[in-house]
Amino acid sequence: MAARAVGLLASLPLCAQRSQVLRPIHRLLSCPRTVAAEIKREEQSSGSVETGSEGRTPKKTFSEVQKERREQAQRTVLIHCPNKISVKKFLKYLSQHGPINNHFFYESFGLYAVVEFCQKESVTSLQNGTRTPSMGTEAAIPFRSRVFNLKTKNPSNPTSEQSRVQCSIHAPPSSKKLLELLCCAESIDDQLNTLLKELQLTEENTKLRYLTCSLIEDIAAAYFLDCTVRPFGSSVNSFGKLGCDLDMFLDLDEIGKFSANKTSGNFLMEFQVKNVPSERMATQKILSVIGECLDHFGPGCVGVQKILNARCPLVRFSHQASGFQCDLTTNNRIALKSSELLYIYGALDSRVRALVFSIRCWARAHSLTSSIPGSWITNFSLTMMVIFFLQRRSPPILPTLDSLKTLADAEDKCVIEGHNCTFVRDLNKIKPSGNTETLELLLKEFFEYFGNFAFNKNSINIRQGREQNKPESSPLHIQNPFETSLNISKNVSQSQLQKFVELARESAWILNQEDKDRPSSSRSQPWGLAALLLPSVVNSASLAKRVRKKPASERIKSLLESIKSSGPENATCTNGKRTVSTQA
Ligand code: GTP
Ligand code: MG
Repeated sequence: MAARAVGLLASLPLCAQRSQVLRPIHRLLSCPRTVAAEIKREEQSSGSVETGSEGRTPKKTFSEVQKERREQAQRTVLIHCPNKISVKKFLKYLSQHGPINNHFFYESFGLYAVVEFCQKESVTSLQNGTRTPSMGTEAAIPFRSRVFNLKTKNPSNPTSEQSRVQCSIHAPPSSKKLLELLCCAESIDDQLNTLLKELQLTEENTKLRYLTCSLIEDIAAAYFLDCTVRPFGSSVNSFGKLGCDLDMFLDLDEIGKFSANKTSGNFLMEFQVKNVPSERMATQKILSVIGECLDHFGPGCVGVQKILNARCPLVRFSHQASGFQCDLTTNNRIALKSSELLYIYGALDSRVRALVFSIRCWARAHSLTSSIPGSWITNFSLTMMVIFFLQRRSPPILPTLDSLKTLADAEDKCVIEGHNCTFVRDLNKIKPSGNTETLELLLKEFFEYFGNFAFNKNSINIRQGREQNKPESSPLHIQNPFETSLNISKNVSQSQLQKFVELARESAWILNQEDKDRPSSSRSQPWGLAALLLPSVVNSASLAKRVRKKPASERIKSLLESIKSSGPENATCTNGKRTVSTQA
């Protein structure tokens, strides 16, 4: 393993500089009251929630974060700019519509600016001062959105102030860069934290996600006034990685909520509506029409696919301006509740996110997960496995879902479609764990634990935090935390599970070996987490050699057996070089 890895590393500088995420240019023309808060927000780990039992500052609830971000997005516009502009003049030009709170630039099929005004009225003012282009031979559909094109009057005569602007980065670092950073870390704990820092959503990327939902909401609102488009999944649950998809759901439940009780005397007014035979059909009809709207009128919405016969009907499309792959669903409140639960788990202890990111990255590097649906394990299932593992530590690092339910008060009560989704939402009411185990130990123990888990008879259950008899025969059974009769990993095949188990055992073995070798080992080779992210050593002669030198335990013997029986597809070596995949 080491010998092959040297080839890759030889091309790397000895110690890499950390990738510098360019910060937005000075905030000119900002609202005075909000700048300090903004800077403070940016200083915090970008795109993340405040984590760790160590900090006792009050933590925001999931709904508070969502509300704040949503409101921020509604005051924001997206502007496609010429490649070279004078930022100062650009901001001055826009500020005629009102003060600007915040802005940043990024590249996605050209240069874009995200500009957040202090007041929502400024957006209307900008829209009122904007013309619909005349398209020559083509006809423009006059749709007034918050996505604009900025034209310069004299494009052939750029001024000296027009220069390339600094852009914020919205893509994960390359595999090579990531490997360099991991190799330069001081410890395995440091490696896990580095990986988290490099891959987590940045503040700007998070803002862009909320803005994209808000733009889609504008389109849906043309039909369903007062509807809300909410992000869910990894964009908001604190486990999102740069480049992950944007899951959103069209929430129609709020419509008419506030007028519902306005009855007086003997009268009650109802909207006349059309009825369809089932909830599912209603969902399909709504998504079908929104899909059409996105396709025909949505600026930058391309590749719209209506996947209406899926278990959870959805519209999939690419939002070109933001670069996000989007999945739009409706009637998906349980998924939003799952996102809130994961957000809470991610915020309770700073080790949770670091461990989840590393396990997800490890799984992706070994093709255990895929962006294509199939018989593989999903990131959502992997996150549940990490949470379950952390509930099983002694003392536990994370509380069970049942104990979060016990801490809930009347306001937290939540029942969706007959499923009890109640749990405490105020993070400050949850006692921090007394467990002080290092990330290095937890990583190793995670692989040990699942490398030896009785998947054939036991189910993973974060509600009770203990192994339970499997109620059905799927190879992997992870109980859906809210719809408890469902298995979230029903799709996983026996061979994929077997591959997971073998890789977990192998990774535990590598970490154990490193423990023994560490004083003499050279850090010029991938070590710790970096070594685990290289494609499997299954079939590697060097592993067999290393194993032969040591007295083989029963577990290592079985590992060698599995190495012999596994196919060549596991070794993803090209020209003697091994690469590490970090893409989602
Ligand atoms: P990424 O891989 O980063 O996109 O992670 P993700 O958590 O966003 O996963 P994904 O996009 O596949 O799904 C979005 C959300 O849908 C998840 O966070 C869950 O809340 C929910 N979800 C996904 N798969 C399942 C499942 O099998 N069962 C249930 N009940 N919910 C699921
Ligand atoms: Mg997702």
